[in-house]
Amino acid sequence: MAYEKLFEKGRIGPLTIRNRAVMSPMGTDFADTNGNASPRLIAYYAERAKGGIGLIINEYTGVDDVDSIPTQHNLRMAQDYNVKAAEELTRTVHRYGAKIFAQLHHGGATSKSAFTGRQNLSPSGIPMPPAGEVPREMTLEDIRRVQDKFVAATVRCKKAGYDGVELHAAHGYLMTQFLSAYYNHRTDQYGGSLENRCRFIDEVIAGIREKLGNYPISVRICGDEMTDHPGFWNLEGGLAIARHLEAQGIDCINISNGSSWNGNANCEPFSYTPGWKKHVAKAFKEALSIPVIATNTVKDPDFAEQLLEEGVSDFVALGRSQFADPEFMNKAKAGRPETIRKCISCMYCRERLLGGAMPVECSLNPRLGAEYRYRWQDLQKNGAGRPVVVVGGGPGGLECAIILAKRGFAVTLLEKGDTLGGTLNIAKLPPFKANIQGTIDVLALEARKNGVDIRLNTEATPDLVKSMNPVGVFLAVGAPPLVPKSIPGIEKAVLAEDVILGKALCGPTAILVGTGLTGLECAEMVLEHGHKLTMVEMNPAVGQGIYNVVFNDIMSRITPHAPEVLTSHKLTAVTESGAEVTDLTTGETKSLSADTVILALGTHDQEAMLEAYEQLGLNTVLVGSAEVPGRIAGAIRGGFEKAWVFEAE
Ligand SMILES: Cc1cc2nc3c(=O)[nH]c(=O)nc-3n(C[C@H](O)[C@H](O)[C@H](O)COP(=O)(O)O)c2cc1C
Repeated sequence: MAYEKLFEKGRIGPLTIRNRAVMSPMGTDFADTNGNASPRLIAYYAERAKGGIGLIINEYTGVDDVDSIPTQHNLRMAQDYNVKAAEELTRTVHRYGAKIFAQLHHGGATSKSAFTGRQNLSPSGIPMPPAGEVPREMTLEDIRRVQDKFVAATVRCKKAGYDGVELHAAHGYLMTQFLSAYYNHRTDQYGGSLENRCRFIDEVIAGIREKLGNYPISVRICGDEMTDHPGFWNLEGGLAIARHLEAQGIDCINISNGSSWNGNANCEPFSYTPGWKKHVAKAFKEALSIPVIATNTVKDPDFAEQLLEEGVSDFVALGRSQFADPEFMNKAKAGRPETIRKCISCMYCRERLLGGAMPVECSLNPRLGAEYRYRWQDLQKNGAGRPVVVVGGGPGGLECAIILAKRGFAVTLLEKGDTLGGTLNIAKLPPFKANIQGTIDVLALEARKNGVDIRLNTEATPDLVKSMNPVGVFLAVGAPPLVPKSIPGIEKAVLAEDVILGKALCGPTAILVGTGLTGLECAEMVLEHGHKLTMVEMNPAVGQGIYNVVFNDIMSRITPHAPEVLTSHKLTAVTESGAEVTDLTTGETKSLSADTVILALGTHDQEAMLEAYEQLGLNTVLVGSAEVPGRIAGAIRGGFEKAWVFEAE
């Protein structure tokens, strides 16, 4: 069998797990406002259980709805009324052969007083982040009350049919705050020595054991906080905590990394090499006898198998990979890893949840969080072989073609270039982005498998398309770059996309105008090739609108090159010797000299093209960035949705 280790049964305490893959806990914001598992949330987990995962550790689940409400749609087990919907959740997951734990959580200093109306709790009144809301120091009464809430929530979990619980002692939340010498300065029995700092969680574990005997308990900690500041623990410190917890009789340990100050070591953007932190989990596996679960940027089953073979952990945790493709394990079992939509660590899921306080979405999987709405059994298979044409072989066009083909239409996809992928062929070129080729490959594979007739090197025109007599035309032609004709000399400038593609040469000195994601990625490439760069941005800061994790990651590579940065400056002319810019704060105009002026001013929609098709009486739909310029997520989601609801006239 393929992936022998991955499909070996595993044990956690008294439980047998059908394989070695654990779904890592990930907040979704799919619960209702009372913290109940909603139909949306249940359908989302059902799909992962059906997809073959062994154990689901569900998202952080609040034990306390008085002092800890992190978001309005956070799952909770804080009240007896939360049990009913949770029963439906566990029953559904069990129906598909997976086991499920609830990850029990208290935010402590990270909670939101805007939701609770109360000052946050913490061991010692240290704010998190450092300039955040100042919490109050918990009294002994507070400690007992919150511990009781953890135990009461566990009792509810058992009633609801959960197979166990995981205590969330990672990533800086209340249990971490007690474990941490940085956050815990108490001088009573809950602070000081390792034993004292562990007392909060120890007493919760003992409380659960007293009420529920050998009910499985996992604890998630950061193995190494990877934070170079006094009070944060390193690997040795993490091992000491884990040894202590093992002695308290927990059933397994789930190793994450990083801290409240270093989220990237937990959930990495694309620039981290898979496996970079595997030494941490391995050290725990070697030091402990209980099973070790660990995340390790697992994007494909080969790497999962390799980690198990190397003895890095007993179970591999799959986080974002389960967002991107719930069928990951079934596809691995079938020996078809090439059909998996592999997470590209673009961070869009984090951006939605943490950056925007919105339910998670995935760039590659348009059904994430929409499984209850877009049920495969409801897909209208009424295409009846009628012809439709998709123009453009980028991510939106491919996704659109796939769904139309699944609906039974005879789909022809016209791509003017000699390769599929559209703008992904640009997106994959900046440093660390090569795995985007995997997205192109898997979409192309799915399109071909579903019978899409792909015609490369074929430029679509309204007349050509009309001659094919389609019942629908889907313009997924992407969004062309903005080139403001009103700026004198603009024709002398080159496009950032062309510089990235190597189609436009960049001289030794360059001016880059516009610092969105494409602009910054172009800047990174230009600087790495040793060019001297001035970055011009109309906004008061560079990189506006880019999720801060991605922004900081790129800037960490740009900043050492010390490019000149002119914010609040507008391009007013491209000249023979460079560019003229205006300082928007003073109105002063400056001449900048450079060999090349590069434009990264964003993109515009394709409304004009739509009209040309409609004038020929074609039933035409704009798809993805052609309709709303955006990123991969919008393109794929747009393609999916337009194809799902399409009605031929
Ligand atoms: C959107 C999102 C929400 C997350 N929420 C949680 C959470 O509730 N509890 C937790 O322990 N970790 C959480 N994590 C971290 C993941 O469990 C995991 O450690 C991380 O994504 C790295 O694993 P991966 O590379 O397989 O995605 C979250 C990650 C993401 C992307």
